[in-house]
Amino acid sequence: MKDFSGKVAVITGGASGIGRAIGERVAREGVKLVLADVEGAALERTVAELRGAGVEATGVVTDVRKPAEVEALAEKTLSTYGGVHLVFNNAGVGTDETRQMLWQSPENDWRWVLDVNLFGVLNGIKAFVPILLERGEEAHVVNTSSGNGGLFPLPTTPIYAAVKAAVTCVSEVLHAQLLMTGAPVKASVLFPGPHLVRTNIFTAHRNRPADAPYQSEPDAPPPTFDEIKVMIEAAGLPFAVTEPAEVAELAFQGIREDRFWLIPASEDNDARVRERMEGILARENPPLKFM
Ligand SMILES: NC(=O)c1ccc[n+]([C@@H]2O[C@H](COP(=O)([O-])OP(=O)(O)OC[C@H]3O[C@@H](n4cnc5c(N)ncnc54)[C@H](O)[C@@H]3O)[C@@H](O)[C@H]2O)c1
Repeated sequence: MKDFSGKVAVITGGASGIGRAIGERVAREGVKLVLADVEGAALERTVAELRGAGVEATGVVTDVRKPAEVEALAEKTLSTYGGVHLVFNNAGVGTDETRQMLWQSPENDWRWVLDVNLFGVLNGIKAFVPILLERGEEAHVVNTSSGNGGLFPLPTTPIYAAVKAAVTCVSEVLHAQLLMTGAPVKASVLFPGPHLVRTNIFTAHRNRPADAPYQSEPDAPPPTFDEIKVMIEAAGLPFAVTEPAEVAELAFQGIREDRFWLIPASEDNDARVRERMEGILARENPPLKFM
């Protein structure tokens, strides 16, 4: 897609972090925004701030876990702006898995992360792709995965990594199936990074739903950004931060250039991907690494 002016973007998880930054980036190209988020107050605040900066933006409180709410989001988008061209299935959560063995991981943690991070993406695909195909206009779907979603060696966050790996797979299939249709609708998968992105993901438990509560209250709050920094440095890995605006730029340029793999340009990042892929081809047992 080369011409963005007047187009309409839907961004799930648009009230915060990477979703908000994507909204700000595409709005600079003249794109109208529909921001969807489960956190009503943050959504209202974000929409007000964007409107204050002259951006055409609408907020729709949406729980991406619920197909009917994502379908209502699609209807609201069409009734508000008369079209839709960019869909960012970006809403995501993570649980504190750093102190936990896989065989101790609570079922509710799996259910919650699966529901938001995988079913949220699927619900977005099911609600929007038929509309995009039917309209026949140039369009693009971007699903947010993670380097932990199949690219990097031995993640220590099994729930998050397994679910994000599924998002990567689903995105590859979506890309191929859209090509088969011959329609001008493209798909990409976004890998935020190369470093931890400075967002509110580390307090994702603020959106923990009543139907997937903690099974036992954690003995300690999830590690803060600073505690994660200490753990990463203790594992001998360099610590650096990526800003959400950098991820948004990666996503925007990827859509403009019609690239599927939205992986940040970084030697460190590439080295980790190469280590995993070469290790698999060499049939080597995975090394013990922090993430
Ligand atoms: N921050 C990182 O380092 C990083 C790295 C790799 C991937 N990601 C992915 O990037 C995406 C964006 O996360 P972020 O880092 O900007 O975090 P964030 O917490 O700042 O933003 C995520 C947004 O998703 C919303 N959300 C949560 N549950 C929802 C639900 N059920 N329905 C609708 N919205 C919901 C939250 O309210 C929040 O506004 C996620 O998919 C995350 O997994 C982040």
